Amino acid sequence: MTNPIHFLDLHEVSKEDLRTMIDDALAVKKARAGKPKGTRDEGRPLDGHTLACIFEFPSTRTRVSFDMGMRQLGGDTLVLNSDDMQLGRGETIADTAKVLSRMVDVIMLRTDNHQKLKDLAENASIPVINGLSNFSHPCQLMADVLTFEEHKGNIKDRVVTWSGDGNNMVTSWIHAAGQFGFELRIACPEELSPNPVALDWAKEVGAAVHVTRDPEEAAKGSDCLVTDTWVSMGDDVGARHNLLKPYQIDEKLMEKAASDAIFMHCLPAHRDEEATTAVMDGSQSVIFDEAENRLHAQKAVLRWCLGKI
Ligand code: CP
Ligand code: NVA
Repeated sequence: MTNPIHFLDLHEVSKEDLRTMIDDALAVKKARAGKPKGTRDEGRPLDGHTLACIFEFPSTRTRVSFDMGMRQLGGDTLVLNSDDMQLGRGETIADTAKVLSRMVDVIMLRTDNHQKLKDLAENASIPVINGLSNFSHPCQLMADVLTFEEHKGNIKDRVVTWSGDGNNMVTSWIHAAGQFGFELRIACPEELSPNPVALDWAKEVGAAVHVTRDPEEAAKGSDCLVTDTWVSMGDDVGARHNLLKPYQIDEKLMEKAASDAIFMHCLPAHRDEEATTAVMDGSQSVIFDEAENRLHAQKAVLRWCLGKI
């Protein structure tokens, strides 16, 4: 039996494969433009295949995009909440992996503990996809790179500025900077710095990743400003709002960026906290393209995991 191909983090996938997935997603998106959303005219490459999505946390975009994506590719989906499974009563991840591997073809897990993803992958004989963990959110980054490139061309050698919490999204932005070859400036309070493991990886591979306490300096001339909620799922609120207030993306901060810079946010947002409504609904915002692109990017990820790309 060949080893399954997992999609756990961007730095574990080759640069070539990441590029293939982004290019494929863009081409398929273009070919589908204007057709009804349930159209399954892509040759049904995943006919007969079933995806099990397991959620330990709530989700709107991840849930709907995986389900619709699988349907468009001719496959089927089971959407499961962990509390309704024996997982919620203490069955191990390893046993769950072995059982599901007998019944479905690919698993997506959203979890509060990244180690569970690793354990699932280690014990499954089918591909496992990271649908967000406390460490990272690689599927979102595939959509984000796709969105950047649709609006601004190849992301290589461009500049992206993060202003806000150094959370799971930042880990995946760091991995993306190394893999796609762009500069990432991260403005955040010291107390909410990015995961040191991700920063160490960036250093090791020579990725252009810089951390600063000064959002204005970080935004200067940037091609894209990006942020995320100040309180991620599973976080304690604590002093986050006070610490993060100086990192809010408002129109003044957008003005520091290049005049044609875009604004991104993975959503869900807390409007007028991490970004003002004026920025979120402004002409530079691409947040709803970004949400739609979860669907297109993940279809490429699913096909890659199942050897159909
Ligand atoms: N961006 C994102 O993952 O959204 P959901 O939590 O709605 O899935
Ligand atoms: N950082 C956020 C992302 C939500 C998609 C969280 O983990 O809640």
